[in-house]
Amino acid sequence: MARAILALNTLYPLGLEALEKEFELIKLSRESDPENAIQQHRNDIVAIIAGPGNHVSRKLIEALPALEMIGIFAVGTDNVDLEAARERSILVTNTPDILTADTADIALALLLAVTRRVVEGDAYIRIGKWLNGPMPLGVSLAGKTVGIVGLGRIGQAIAKRLTAFDMRVVYHGRSKKDVPYKFYPQLLEMAQDIDFLVLSCAGGTETKGLVGEAVLKLLGVNGFLINVARGSVVDEEALLVALRNKDIAGAGLDVFANEPFVPEALYSMDNVVLLPHTGSATTETRSKMAALVIENIRAHFEGKPLKTLVAV
Ligand code: GLV
Repeated sequence: MARAILALNTLYPLGLEALEKEFELIKLSRESDPENAIQQHRNDIVAIIAGPGNHVSRKLIEALPALEMIGIFAVGTDNVDLEAARERSILVTNTPDILTADTADIALALLLAVTRRVVEGDAYIRIGKWLNGPMPLGVSLAGKTVGIVGLGRIGQAIAKRLTAFDMRVVYHGRSKKDVPYKFYPQLLEMAQDIDFLVLSCAGGTETKGLVGEAVLKLLGVNGFLINVARGSVVDEEALLVALRNKDIAGAGLDVFANEPFVPEALYSMDNVVLLPHTGSATTETRSKMAALVIENIRAHFEGKPLKTLVAV
């Protein structure tokens, strides 16, 4: 029986092809009838490769009787039904650490871009507006307070960068950590004490809709929201209302509730900067992530220990 790997996303760079000697590769995005491709190979698929936007549901897991492992091409695991994987003793791996610095950089890039009007300024020159006078002023970072939700690896890397920008860091999360930043057990309490709210927590049911109308109101008219976590952490409707009504000053968003679809209302707002989920999107990091996914798959089928097993 041929062993097949179901790739729900396309890995960059083309490292995935290296597996073609040992496995049949089903690249779902290239299949004209994806459902049929899965049905045809359902008894052969031993591994799935999935990126953040690829939902590995209980239904999919249960439809694949030979499935042994799921290699997530990301650090976040919220796209996989971990309970369904655990019930079948299916191994799940992800790509932590190697994307931490790049993702933290993107949080800073968004913070700088939205407060200092970087994107707007670029357009200002290109469309010839500078000739008519200076553009509106931005907002200073130094001396301001940033509240981070989720002080894990990425959150701590963001904090380190913010400190270098002479900013004060505080945080909210599941538990207090051994760090020199003030901990807020209550997000609402933190929201009213900060200038910028940065989200770098895990997605999933625990954080779904964590940032809604009440938090945004407390963040206030001079507050900015930066999200490099998951779109699900924010009540997107409430965010649109807050941005439209200027209940907050602006937002820098790398993630959205229903990617790759982004609410069109955001397109015309000049107080937002939008990125298409690019936290880990550098040649260096994506290459390392692809290599790690492949290494884990090989290790499993050669009976070796996996490098980055997710506890399910
Ligand atoms: C990206 O979103 C990741 O979870 O790695």
